Amino acid sequence: MNIVLFGGPGSGKGTQSEKLIDKYGLHHISTGEVLRDHIKRETELGKIAKSYIDEGQLIPDDLMIRILDDVLEKEAKDKPGVIFDGFPRTIPQAEALNELLNKRGKELHAVVGLEVPDEKLVARMIQRGKDTGRADDNEETIKKRLHVYHNQTSPLKEHYKKQNKYVAIDGDREINNIFEAITKELDKIGKPDVRD
Ligand code: AP5
Ligand code: MG
Repeated sequence: MNIVLFGGPGSGKGTQSEKLIDKYGLHHISTGEVLRDHIKRETELGKIAKSYIDEGQLIPDDLMIRILDDVLEKEAKDKPGVIFDGFPRTIPQAEALNELLNKRGKELHAVVGLEVPDEKLVARMIQRGKDTGRADDNEETIKKRLHVYHNQTSPLKEHYKKQNKYVAIDGDREINNIFEAITKELDKIGKPDVRD
């Protein structure tokens, strides 16, 4: 089962991914984490990524798609399924994901959209900024990330609704309740290899 966890910045993609990995044994790819790891290791790619992330902007599609192709090849070849967290974020990325899966004989089963009001997203990220010091969790960059989400990423909802793949989840409630709602939907879609 290959699924996309979709939603604005701070909507809970990472939090829910962790729980889904445990339950279904899926491989997790967070493009944000991949990029932050490059920044930490001070690679060439990390330097490029930092200049975009600090501004709350998206890394250019062609570069991001090449990175994802590479990660899929290295990490996910023999995995039964993948959770894509934070990818795709644009229509060209969605088209690329389709191609990257197809060329490996796979397909995308569902796009789980965590829907949370902006003011809650801001509060969560401000709090995380204080707790962890994540560089892009400051008021100014958060504003830009939300703007980018509404302008460049949220159109993907319609894109996936047309393909009957979008599953809307109310992400503004307790973490375990959200998780329960997601698993209920996923169990309807496929018959994943439940390991618990
Ligand atoms: P990325 O790392 O993907 O950041 P994001 O989308 O802004 O999302 P976050 O990781 O901040 O939040 P999340 O949805 O994972 O929520 P979380 O579970 O952490 O991307 C960062 C940057 O990298 C982008 O801005 C861009 O520059 C670049 N990038 C990444 N992917 C790219 C791509 N495909 N193309 C181009 N550029 C790309 O939760 C947030 C907080 O809330 C946590 O503190 C958590 O504990 C808390 N929380 C979670 N759930 C709940 C709940 N139900 N109730 C209360 N609190 C909760
Ligand atoms: Mg995340």
